[in-house]
Amino acid sequence: MRAHLLVFGLCLTLLGAGVACSSSSTNKLSGAPGTGTSDNAPAAVKKYGCQNCHGTDMSGVTVALTMQPDGVDLYPPNLTTDQATGIGTWTDGQLEFAIKNGVDKDGLVLCPQMKHFSQITPEEMSETIKFLRGLPSVKKDIPGSICPPLKTKM
Ligand code: HEC
Repeated sequence: MRAHLLVFGLCLTLLGAGVACSSSSTNKLSGAPGTGTSDNAPAAVKKYGCQNCHGTDMSGVTVALTMQPDGVDLYPPNLTTDQATGIGTWTDGQLEFAIKNGVDKDGLVLCPQMKHFSQITPEEMSETIKFLRGLPSVKKDIPGSICPPLKTKM
């Protein structure tokens, strides 16, 4: 509940700044689970290079991305529908908010290397989320990213 309020607060702040903001929890964009493949990525996913970081099958990477500054370890998370290790429990609204504003479903700010795709069009967002929902579920634990001062080693 607290996290929800956090996101909501942020949403209002962004709205105040004139930024389009949608954290509604509709599931109308969802595709049937397991019907997609990593080869049929829609144009938006290719255009924004999501697979370059999150992996061809979007199940995340357990080896930190290379070419990052000292002390920065980035592990792009599992974006398949697995409930425990992926985004299976995220709503479309939460995904949209994370992709546009770099804030996760608990209201925590993501490392800035996960870009804020604020220019993404509603059509691109819809095909991206549909693609994620349709990917075969992969159970894969991904370490937490480290990007001081935002996220530091536990
Ligand atoms: C430059 C590499 C990179 C690209 C390109 C990228 N991401 Fe990410 N993404 C990351 C990293 C790293 C994180 C984790 C950041 C953190 O935990 O603080 C992340 C986090 C996320 C999250 C939050 C997931 C979670 O479990 O917290 C979502 C959703 C997401 N990315 C979707 C996308 C989508 C969709 C695209 C393409 C439009 C994309 N990303 C492109 C690196 C990338």
